[in-house]
This record gives sequence, structure tokens and C-alpha cells, in this order.
Amino acid sequence: MSKSAARFVCQECGAVTAKWAGKCEACNAWNSITEEVARDAAPKGLGVKPGKRIEFVGLEGSTTAHLPRLMTKIGELDRVCGGGLVAGSALLVGGDPGIGKSTLLTQATAALSTQVPVVYISGEEAVDQVRLRAHRLGLSKAPVQLAAATNLRDIISTLDNADAPRVVVIDSIQTMFADNVESAPGTVSQVRTCAHELIRLAKRRGFVLFLVGHVTKEGTIAGPRVLEHMVDTVLYFEGDRGHQFRILRAVKNRFGATDEIGVFEMTDAGLQEVLNPSALFLAERRGNVSGSCVYAGVEGTRPMLVEIQALVAPSTLSSPRRAVVGWDSNRMSMVLAVLDSRCGLALSGNDVYLNVAGGLRITEPAADLAVAAALVSSATDVPVPADMVVFGEIGLSGEVRAVAQGDARLKEAAKLGFAQGLVPSSPRKGKQAASGPLSIRSIGHLQDLLGLFRPGQ
Ligand code: TYD
Ligand code: MG
Repeated sequence: MSKSAARFVCQECGAVTAKWAGKCEACNAWNSITEEVARDAAPKGLGVKPGKRIEFVGLEGSTTAHLPRLMTKIGELDRVCGGGLVAGSALLVGGDPGIGKSTLLTQATAALSTQVPVVYISGEEAVDQVRLRAHRLGLSKAPVQLAAATNLRDIISTLDNADAPRVVVIDSIQTMFADNVESAPGTVSQVRTCAHELIRLAKRRGFVLFLVGHVTKEGTIAGPRVLEHMVDTVLYFEGDRGHQFRILRAVKNRFGATDEIGVFEMTDAGLQEVLNPSALFLAERRGNVSGSCVYAGVEGTRPMLVEIQALVAPSTLSSPRRAVVGWDSNRMSMVLAVLDSRCGLALSGNDVYLNVAGGLRITEPAADLAVAAALVSSATDVPVPADMVVFGEIGLSGEVRAVAQGDARLKEAAKLGFAQGLVPSSPRKGKQAASGPLSIRSIGHLQDLLGLFRPGQ
């Protein structure tokens, strides 16, 4: 007889405790702990109902690595997935409600359905609503098999047969419901059980599984982190409502690079790919104003130019304001501290605002020098030359460090008509970035940067 053991699981963070409590010790959430009844998976004691013997194999043998990948023909999506979709893989697409996950997957499934059988299961919207969206996108004719369902058992029975589709979309995993788990849909145990069963089926039947997951207000996909471990690829769809464009970012990928991003624009006719993001991010730039600097960044394999704006203004507050949009605020504090203690530029009595124009979020430390240039430019009221791009990492002693892919950054800048580059002087791995048609100013210490911003220069 299998024994049932009760355990208590926090629905916010997934922590497991033996006793119920009003507050989760792990994440400090209130009223988040619920009881779960889990059946013992392994029989206790030796000799009782032994498991099956597993087979070991060598590292060499047949793999799926050389199988052709399934292309969605949406270039930005294919690239973020590492060059197309791998059969039997599970992808989690996370993002805020209303950001465009269903739109993206409707477009992707429509494109895929002309090549292979595709199933779209919506637990969130009725068939009518999904049809309406497809109609709006002009994709009503695509041979996608559509269903509105939430019961996991029904879905598994339907899909578990030899002529299973090649691509399955579950929109969203939080609405799925396994009737053998005693908790409401969307709770950690439900999300975990449903995802686990679906992923197992995907591996067995060899179809590509897309799971849509909502992001909670804390910024993690609900059913916290457990899902990220289970799937092969995690894609986040981000962007803010005020801006038209959306960034699809790979944060985990067993079949490709994880720093890849795809850029889309939300239009009346759905998501359009943005093939030249630099041009888009720089579209509204006004040249020759102080506090603005063009950063030559790299997102994944693709160079991307963005404008960094800074405003340094005298403050009336005892602790002046620091506000950062699109960059790490700790990193800005570090750049300010280095400017203060290594270069003698004290901005502690000023409010400092920093903004990455266009709504992009930058994570590379290579943006340090561009941020410093924007800050110094605003503080001194001397504009950074409008045809100059900047990149470089700043160390705590004020040294400017080399960064990866200098060539690619400068090439993109040349392509967009920039004439000057402000770059680190220390060559990386003995190799100086080829300047191409740009005239290069290389600096080794932040002090040299200040030299460029003397009023009247
Ligand atoms: P949706 O894909 O439903 O978001 P999610 O599945 O992530 O919750 O997209 C929602 C938003 O996109 C909605 O506010 C309307 C907008 N939208 C457009 O602007 N153009 C379009 O063609 C479509 C289909 C949606
Ligand atoms: Mg949706």
C-alpha cells in the first residue's frame, strides 16, 4: 500500500516545510503556505518492490544534434532559440500579461503550421478570442489545430499517440489543471506537475513544446524557478507598455547561446521583426546636446547602438536623487564613486538621472565608459560629439578596461555613419580592435575622459 505524506509548500517560493505556518520562513510571504499530499515515490526499505535496472550507454552514439531544426521563419525568434527549434525540446516563454506572448506564438504557430502539424491549446482565452486574434493578424487560413482546454489528463490523452503533432503550444501553464493534485490551478504544485507531465510527453513523442508562463510582480515566472530547471530553453518577452518594441531574451538555452536577443515592434498587424535595431533606438536622437552619448553595445551575437542619456542637476534634497532606467543602479553608483574619488568630479550634491533611450535594458559592463561620458558631459555641459560611439569597462581604480568584440561594435558604428570611436586603450588578448573607417581615440584611465570635456574644446 502506498503511503500518503502531507507536506506544506510555499506557493510563492516553493519552500517545503513539515508544519503549516502563517509566514514562509524562506521568502517572508504571508499566507502562502498550503498543504500538499504527495504519494511516496520510492518504497522504503531494501528488498521491497525494487526499481527497474537502468541501462548505461557511452558518450558516443546517435544524437539529435544533426537533425534539421524546425524554423519558424521569424528570424528574430529562430536566432534567440539558437537557430531554430529542436524536436522534443520544451521552451518556456515568460513575460508580463499583455506584453504579446500569445501574439508571438500565434504568429509562430501559423508559420510552422505550413510545414508540420501544429496544436495550440489555450487555457486562458476562448476559441473565439484566439480566432479573433488570428483574424486580426491575417492568419485565419493557417492550418493550426486550436483547442480551449485546461484539463491535463485530457490534453495528455489527446496528444499521446503516434501521430502526435510536431509543435504544441500551451497558453498558459498557470491555467492548466491536474486533477490528481489537490490545489488550485496556478499554484506551485499544479504548475510543476502539469509542466513535468507535458515535458515528459514532449520528450517521448518528440514534439516541440511551448509553455507560456506569466511573470509575477516580483519578476519571476510563477511556479517560481521550478519551471526554469525543467525546460530546455527559457525566453523572456520584455518591453514596456509606453514603447512599441519588445525584446525577446534567452536566459537559458540548452541548444544555443543565452545572451541572444530578438527585437520586435508591436504594430496593428501584430509583431514585426526589427532587422536594424540600432537605427530604431537612435531614431529620435538629437545631436549635440550635453548629457547624451551613443554606446556601442553587443547583445548576443549582434552589435547594437543605443543612446545613453544623463541629467545632472543641482539638488535641494539632503540625500540627492539617483534614478536609473534601463541600467543597473549599483553600477551607476560605482561609476559616480570612481568619478568622485579618482578623478575629482564630485556629483554628490546633485540629483543624477540616467536613461537608456528607447526602453532597452543593458546588462553589459562595457557600457560603463559611455555612462561616464554621458554623466561628465551633462555635468560640464559639453556635448559628446554627435558622430562618436563609446564603449569600455571601468575598474575601481579608474582604469578603462578592454571589452569583447570591439571590432563588431566599431563596424556597426561605421555602418550607421559614425565617424569617431572612444575606446579602451588596453588591447584585449594582444589584439587591438581594427578601427575600420572610424577615427579612434583610445583612453586608459577615466581621468583622460575628463580631459575631453573641458568647456570650449
Ligand atoms: P497578447 O499577445 O494577448 O499578450 P499576452 O499573451 O502576453 O498576455 O497581446 C496583448 C497586447 O498586444 C494587447 O494589448 C493588444 C496588443 N496587440 C497589438 O497591438 N496588435 C496586434 O496585432 C495584436 C494581436 C495585439
Ligand atoms: Mg496571452
